[in-house]
Amino acid sequence: AAAGGGAAPEFKHDIKTVGVVGTGTMASGIVQVFAQAGYDIIYVGRSQDKLEGVLGYITKNLDRAIAKGKGTEGDKDALLGRLTGSTEREALGGVDIVVEAIAEDLDIKLELFRDLDKIVKPGAILATTTSSLPITKLGEATSRPQDVIGMHFFNPAPVMKLVEIITTPDTAADVDETVRALTANVAKVGVSAGDRAGFIVNLLLFPYLNDAVTLLESGVEMTTIDAAIKETAGFPMGPFELLDVVGNDVSLAIQKELHAEFGEPGFAPAATLVAKVEAGELGRKTGRGFHDYAK
Ligand code: 3HC
Repeated sequence: AAAGGGAAPEFKHDIKTVGVVGTGTMASGIVQVFAQAGYDIIYVGRSQDKLEGVLGYITKNLDRAIAKGKGTEGDKDALLGRLTGSTEREALGGVDIVVEAIAEDLDIKLELFRDLDKIVKPGAILATTTSSLPITKLGEATSRPQDVIGMHFFNPAPVMKLVEIITTPDTAADVDETVRALTANVAKVGVSAGDRAGFIVNLLLFPYLNDAVTLLESGVEMTTIDAAIKETAGFPMGPFELLDVVGNDVSLAIQKELHAEFGEPGFAPAATLVAKVEAGELGRKTGRGFHDYAK
């Protein structure tokens, strides 16, 4: 599906094998999305343990679905059979598209893109799921900026329908169209956005989340804010529940990028968000963020 109408996009590149770099929450969800749509996946992480973490995430989701009567053990085995994990980036040499979902840090991503440029076959698409970093710069780090594009998934990727598709001034039209076709093919809704911090959703969402933290600092109870937003304003989660799902480290990185690009005083990361990250209270993934998940 594509939001905003227009002719259905067509594949201009043949996409059979998808590479995913990263083993965190987003990478795991993205691997699941492509595997569910029938693609063969090669996913790359820094250690065997981290690769197993991806399988653990997907297995847990599939087991939960099976328990609800959605899918069978046979479907699960078939899906898992499409996944190949590797600790070597060289394993990505033959893939048709790479979707990068590593740490939200420009230097780390630039290093990866320089490496992908050397490793991945010519003509393959190099996509990033960054939520706030300049994709144009990632393209410029390669010898093939025409093949570099943003494919921004939302958390939890297997559930959230939206994918923001971000072209840079260098992205080739056929790469854009192929990624729009691919997005529809994995049952997501693609929306085109320009290459500026936050794109569409995070530019609107993170100032709101940051304001919620500022409101908390002014003395309003966290549970009051979460309940007001969730139960009466109709959002699926309160802001602190959502910060804990996204991860305070990820949220802080996004907030800093928005502040750096737009310079709005209100975009400066709230002190308590910074403190949470310094304390290692990153959210659900560490068992504690704004809320406590240890129980
Ligand atoms: N992985 C896979 N599936 C999941 C899941 C997960 N982590 N969490 C929930 N689900 C599935 C459930 O299995 C269930 O599936 P079903 O409908 O087939 O039975 C479905 O989602 C609904 O789950 P629940 O009934 O347990 O709970 P909710 O109705 O509360 O839904 C939610 C959970 C979909 C996460 C909902 O609370 C929600 O939409 N929250 C807001 C999420 C959001 O705003 N995300 C965007 C964050 S910003 C971002 O990602 C940008 C990035 O750059 C940081």
